[in-house]
Amino acid sequence: MPPHIRPITADRLPALLRAMPKAELHIHIEGSLEPEQMFALGQRNGVALAYPSVQALREAYVFDNLQEFLDIYHAGTLVLKTEQDFYDMACAYFARAQADNVTHAELFFDTQTHTGHGLSAATVIRGLHRACMDAPSRFGMTASLILCFLRHLSEDEAFACLEEALPMREMLVGIGLASSEVGHPPEKFAKVFARARQLGFRLVAHAGEEGPPAYIWGALDVLKVERIDHGVQATHDAALMRRLAQDKIPLTVCPLSNIKLRVFPTLAQHTLGHMLQAGVVATVHSDDPAYFGGYINDNFTQTFAALGLGAQHAYQLARNSFDASFIEPSERARHIARLDAVFETFE
Ligand code: ADE
Ligand code: ZN
Repeated sequence: MPPHIRPITADRLPALLRAMPKAELHIHIEGSLEPEQMFALGQRNGVALAYPSVQALREAYVFDNLQEFLDIYHAGTLVLKTEQDFYDMACAYFARAQADNVTHAELFFDTQTHTGHGLSAATVIRGLHRACMDAPSRFGMTASLILCFLRHLSEDEAFACLEEALPMREMLVGIGLASSEVGHPPEKFAKVFARARQLGFRLVAHAGEEGPPAYIWGALDVLKVERIDHGVQATHDAALMRRLAQDKIPLTVCPLSNIKLRVFPTLAQHTLGHMLQAGVVATVHSDDPAYFGGYINDNFTQTFAALGLGAQHAYQLARNSFDASFIEPSERARHIARLDAVFETFE
């Protein structure tokens, strides 16, 4: 039985949003690399950045669309060289997530960016995996890894990426699809997703961030993914909205990302509230928090203020995040019990 949710006043809402346990299901770990850490890693590895200072770098974070962001994001990954760098980057994120009461995180990462710079997939995966293993004792949270193919590259390159990761199969929970969306429909990756499915990976894909509803249909029906990342363009297709609600397909929505990349003009025009009203299993996440001006609680707090959402929505979104996660069922129950306890006792 879900807890009885008492209405609370608007001034108490930020505290509730902070206190509630939540799962982070849409975070590109390379997008959590803060400028300060980027400069420190650049110095450690002898990599010069194109900007003279942390402040100058931060000021460059103004984007008109996804591609403009991806170009800067890619440049930022050049400072990552060693297994320890990937470990340190993930731990810095876990520390921030813990402060936001994230109790479980599923980290997106891609090896193709880094193998393109001469690193091995093992350097990336082993560093991130070690951080995930240390997350319970160091940061009071569980964590797992989802390897994303880069959709602007070919399917053959995705196959090569999968192959190189297979010796580390046990370190990965799932496979995803990220990078430049428009012009790279899900169908392009039909065969490699079918192979990943055969291998027992959980499947997700970015779809309907900038791309049309047809890309969401394709991700569901051709790639057979279990979750859609973003998916905000679904509201333009009533039949798709019914399908998402009926089949309880989660959409991992990232409101501040959508504003920074100009998917919506303002937060007040974001469709998260409509999605919940339509019975879609939406969740709220941070995408690339170092670039988009906020971590998961910033996404919750600012979106709730802009859309006038309340305690019932807060419970629903946090509950959805655990229901949509790839945690083992017994673990999931433990997370939900802690969530319910917070809502039962919050004054
Ligand atoms: N990679 C990192 N952030 C992304 C986003 N918002 N969309 C697609 N690919 C990404
Ligand atoms: Zn994303």
